[in-house]
Amino acid sequence: MLKKIIAGNWKQNGTLKSSISLTKKVLQAVKKEKYTHEIIIIPPSIFLLPVKDLIHKSQIKLGAQNVSAFDDGAYTGEISGSMLKDSGVDYCLVGHSERRHLLNEDESAFSSKVSRLIDNDITVIYCFGETLNDYKNKKTKIIIKRQLKKLFLNNENNLKKHSSKLILAYEPVWAIGTGLVPTPEELVSIFKYIRDTVNNLDKKYASIKLLYGGSVTPDNASSLMDTEHIDGLLIGGASLIAKKFIDICSTIWDKYTMQTALLTIHIILAVILVVLVLVQQGKGADAGAAFGSGASSTVFGARGNATFLNKLTTIVALSFFVTSLSLAYISSNKSQTSKSLINETVKEEIVDDQEKFDKP
Ligand code: PGA
Repeated sequence: MLKKIIAGNWKQNGTLKSSISLTKKVLQAVKKEKYTHEIIIIPPSIFLLPVKDLIHKSQIKLGAQNVSAFDDGAYTGEISGSMLKDSGVDYCLVGHSERRHLLNEDESAFSSKVSRLIDNDITVIYCFGETLNDYKNKKTKIIIKRQLKKLFLNNENNLKKHSSKLILAYEPVWAIGTGLVPTPEELVSIFKYIRDTVNNLDKKYASIKLLYGGSVTPDNASSLMDTEHIDGLLIGGASLIAKKFIDICSTIWDKYTMQTALLTIHIILAVILVVLVLVQQGKGADAGAAFGSGASSTVFGARGNATFLNKLTTIVALSFFVTSLSLAYISSNKSQTSKSLINETVKEEIVDDQEKFDKP
């Protein structure tokens, strides 16, 4: 099972004190629960170093929200890729909708940033997604394709050589900070489309991980993660509240641990069942000898052997049936696509606010 990624983007929020307190709480939970996800915290640049001091011996990774498009030099106010690397940064966001729409950054700036980061061995978390206007005009896939093609064409050489240094985060602009999330049907279709688009560009890209971001909460995290091709979550608002962020990590951890355990038991039972059937097809005597020579003649001996094998087969078959039902139940929950995650009333209310993001 692929390692899941849970990334918390704190944006321009918090104080030094609150950042330290939040980091300590997350750190405590990570140590206690021993999550196996890749957990990334992305504080404001000015707090990167104090946060790094707290997490440097843990499994939590450090992310930056931005990088300069230029190498070191006369670029007042900017922070270069090499400075981020020097500060222990492992990941950096590029293309976030707030930088596209509020700070007017464009694809050529993003390409330079991707290069600077890859040059400094920092993994890029590249954000993309359609505006509400695009969504309403059913242009989601066209926009996604356009954004992805630009990213991959502008950085072709670098990405072909270093595809493991890229993670893609689909974040519909209308879902960021609004409480809205695409329906499960939409997510299935969009993530399949993203996966296919990326894979078709080059087979080397098949292992690039895909994240979902936009109004992720402890309540919807689990169903979002059930969507095929979603490898992790990029969380904004909920990552600022320790309990919510930890709850998201735990929900996913519990679920995947249980699923993995169930699947392992299921496979073991299947193997035992096959062996038992083979043993009973004429090899009973050998098994009887293995189990019973010189031992109890009633349980493992000649006649006892058949009874014992019959009972064991029944028990294993019943257990196999139970694990099959449980796995079927889990996967039917995954494909329950009728429950919309979108609250229509809220959606209407935010339409006006979002219009400012929609360029003609
Ligand atoms: P949100 O933000 O979780 O607050 O919607 C997500 C993001 O901007 O990455």
